[in-house]
Amino acid sequence: MTRNFSTRAIHDGEGWDKSTGAHNTPIYQTATFSFETAEDMAAAIMDHPLESFFYSRTANPTTAALEKKMASLEGAEAALITSSGMAAVAISILISARAGEHVIVTNDLFVISRQFFEKDCPAMGIEVSMVDVRNLQDVENAIRPNTRALFIETVTNPNLHISDVAAFRSLADKYNLILIADNTFLSPYLLRPVEQGAHIVLHSATKYISGHGDTVAGVLAGSKKSMDKARLKLDTFGQCLSPIASWLVMRGVRTLPLRMRQHCANAQALAEYLEGHELVEWVKYPGLESHPQYSLARSSLPNGCGGIVSFRIKGGADEMNRFANSHELFGKGVSLGDVCTLVYPQPWRDNLIRISVGCEDAGDIIEEFEKALAAV
Ligand SMILES: Cc1ncc(COP(=O)(O)O)c(C=O)c1O
Repeated sequence: MTRNFSTRAIHDGEGWDKSTGAHNTPIYQTATFSFETAEDMAAAIMDHPLESFFYSRTANPTTAALEKKMASLEGAEAALITSSGMAAVAISILISARAGEHVIVTNDLFVISRQFFEKDCPAMGIEVSMVDVRNLQDVENAIRPNTRALFIETVTNPNLHISDVAAFRSLADKYNLILIADNTFLSPYLLRPVEQGAHIVLHSATKYISGHGDTVAGVLAGSKKSMDKARLKLDTFGQCLSPIASWLVMRGVRTLPLRMRQHCANAQALAEYLEGHELVEWVKYPGLESHPQYSLARSSLPNGCGGIVSFRIKGGADEMNRFANSHELFGKGVSLGDVCTLVYPQPWRDNLIRISVGCEDAGDIIEEFEKALAAV
């Protein structure tokens, strides 16, 4: 019997420790593992290197528990935990394309992913085309004989464009491409791209998956075959997460459904408030009717549109800075998906302000914004 998402977030991958009775999953803070016999050791290393625990760069029981939980939440056969979201981005491409091949990438994407695709991929001989994922025809036109993969963000960073995963899967099938979806902005509670046809889903687990802004981590999920390939890359590039960090991510992910519900409700309330404010020039949030892809958001994101709101204040950098500097409660910072609201003013993007709306009380969030806007 498949249990519901909230139950799986708490229980899957975990269970009391049979050797000690510990109710909580232990942190196996060890680099290496011992074996009863030399024969057992040889079998682990030679016969089952991807399934055995012999060295924590390759696999570790705490991290393995988190991997099982994430595979369950993504509806995927297997998952792999990485040292950061960027490690997950890099691995997803390293297992999908090689020198002389081509990948198509969303043209609105996380700035360091952009750097990876613009600089590192060409340096490895992988050709890259960047395309607006809202226009499927443009994506299809960019496909070449040597195209191997399509890389999308399910909701793009920072402009909040929505990718139609199922439509991308049809395109991927037509041209035999690997569909990779960065689902960082939504989390598996709001969207499970593998269930809609993505071959590989990945996250910066630094964000909603861990949820408390205390760990940098990543996750990949997909078929067992693709995750085996990914683990070999993780091993050679050394992108493993430490067991204690895996444990922190695991503690966070247990409350993912609770947090996501609050993030979504707060973001919707804040977006509506900002849209009605006379000092605000525009607001982007997929849950607003004014969002150009509102109908796609309604059909593909029935549990909510996430916790990120982007907006612009009328005027220029001075107005943006006065707003950002007037917050008492909320920090200015680059990350997102934390239970604390974060304000990210971006003068290099025509003074776009990205808000990672936290899990505080919605009324308090709006009051804080009201004060900061009054200071503008
Ligand atoms: C959409 C997206 N993908 C990937 C990453 C990279 O994740 P990390 O910072 O954990 O390396 C980020 C980080 O902000 C992100 O926003």
